[in-house]
Amino acid sequence: NKRTKIREVLNLTPENQIIILMGWVRTRRSNKNVTFISLNDGSCIQNYQIVADPTVIDEDILRKANTGASIKVSGRLVASQGSGQQTELNAESVEILGEADPESYPIQPKKHSLEFLRENAHLRIRTSTFSAVMRVRHHLAYSIHEYFHQKGFFYIHTPIITASDAEGAGEMFRVSVLDPKNPPLKEDGSVDFKQDFFERETNLTVSGQLEGELAALALSEIYTFGPTFRAENSNTTRHLAEFWMIEPEMAFYDAEDNQDLAEDFLKYVISSALRHCKEDLMFLDQRAAEEEKTKKAELRNELSLLERLTFVTENKFERITYTEAWEILKNSAPNKKKKFAFPIEEWGTDLQSEHERYLVEKHFKKPVIISDYPKAIKSFYMKQNEDGKTVAAMDILFPGIGEIVGGSQREENLEKLAQRMEELNISREEMWWYLDTRRFGTAPHAGFGLGFERLVLFVTGMGNIRDVIPFPRTPGNAEF
Ligand code: 4AD
Ligand code: MG
Repeated sequence: NKRTKIREVLNLTPENQIIILMGWVRTRRSNKNVTFISLNDGSCIQNYQIVADPTVIDEDILRKANTGASIKVSGRLVASQGSGQQTELNAESVEILGEADPESYPIQPKKHSLEFLRENAHLRIRTSTFSAVMRVRHHLAYSIHEYFHQKGFFYIHTPIITASDAEGAGEMFRVSVLDPKNPPLKEDGSVDFKQDFFERETNLTVSGQLEGELAALALSEIYTFGPTFRAENSNTTRHLAEFWMIEPEMAFYDAEDNQDLAEDFLKYVISSALRHCKEDLMFLDQRAAEEEKTKKAELRNELSLLERLTFVTENKFERITYTEAWEILKNSAPNKKKKFAFPIEEWGTDLQSEHERYLVEKHFKKPVIISDYPKAIKSFYMKQNEDGKTVAAMDILFPGIGEIVGGSQREENLEKLAQRMEELNISREEMWWYLDTRRFGTAPHAGFGLGFERLVLFVTGMGNIRDVIPFPRTPGNAEF
């Protein structure tokens, strides 16, 4: 009397054995003699065919097995008569566990637009597309832990509530018990912080890096994998207000070691998804191909999803400096043939996403690691290069995604770090604990952050970051 999942049933050969399936009805078709129910239980992309003879199963029950209803079926496994699967289940009993009214159930057995499904995010995981994305997402998370564990890195849990701004960019959500409409004010009109985190002004973390550095300077090689929060304009297809980030941090690594690790790591997890999520990826590839048909020819991807993923795992990433990237962009004078050529301003300005796309998709046609950015456009903790103008930063850009990884070697010299903080008005008093790492047993170290949803976006071939996280946090999206 034990349930079998469809994923396991697919490996069984017909032996006339009795099995029990539980899941949700995708479709039901009937004629006079027989009813076919296509069942999905989330364990894999396949729906499983159940055959019910109305002389065996009460027709009233079969009528309630509508799209979306959950049912329990007990039956005999038999060779299939040609439904595209090896076996099917001859129902001996069907029990309706939960009905779904066909008039009001939003997910119908047809193709829904992703926009419609975003508005029905509470039910969209029941569709083939979203359940496939969530299984791939799970596998990627698992393989990330597997990769670091095998290499002897330790998983460190860094705090979600913190008083520090790791990126120094001021894009933080405050943690507060205040009613935002009626904050208790002091007599001078300023907000009374007594209502904050036990009288301390705190925010949701933007990155676990600084705490990760503390751990790396004790355990040598660590990584974090947790939620991070950015109060930046997240109205793009690449930004979320709440996203998950993987941040390895390694003592005794320089900038090149850091790049080597990041490249090896990305190739490992993408290969792992190719090996273990083949059916889901093939389904998503098919979905993307259908979507592509409606696009203008010049916007279509030349390679299929599986080909794109394989290409990334098999080819060396291009490595260039910011200055080299800037030269390329400067010389790519815009003309009609070079679609993404974009005029760039003087040396020192940040690359726009159009620049990144040009470099990755048109110029190199492969992932690119850009290093040694001008120090003015990067964070305070990055190691300052000898030239006095650049820092040992690196960004990894992926086709169709843009920046997927950001990292650097860290400034391990106390004086240089303190001076840079002073220049940027970052309080050295409040960051005393961070500076202590440079005071006691400082060491060269480096690390990077991988945006998990951007990785899932790349691997699944989906087009919008809201569609690769179960419950996206964007402006206007916080109900559940
Ligand atoms: O480049 P970022 O801001 O770097 C850091 O936070 C460093 N502390 C990482 C480190 O060195 N340990 O963010 C890292 C990555 C980006 O490359 C991007 O993939 C992702 O995080 N990311 C976002 N993903 C979704 N929505 C957002 N709003 C994101 N902001 C950054
Ligand atoms: Mg960045």
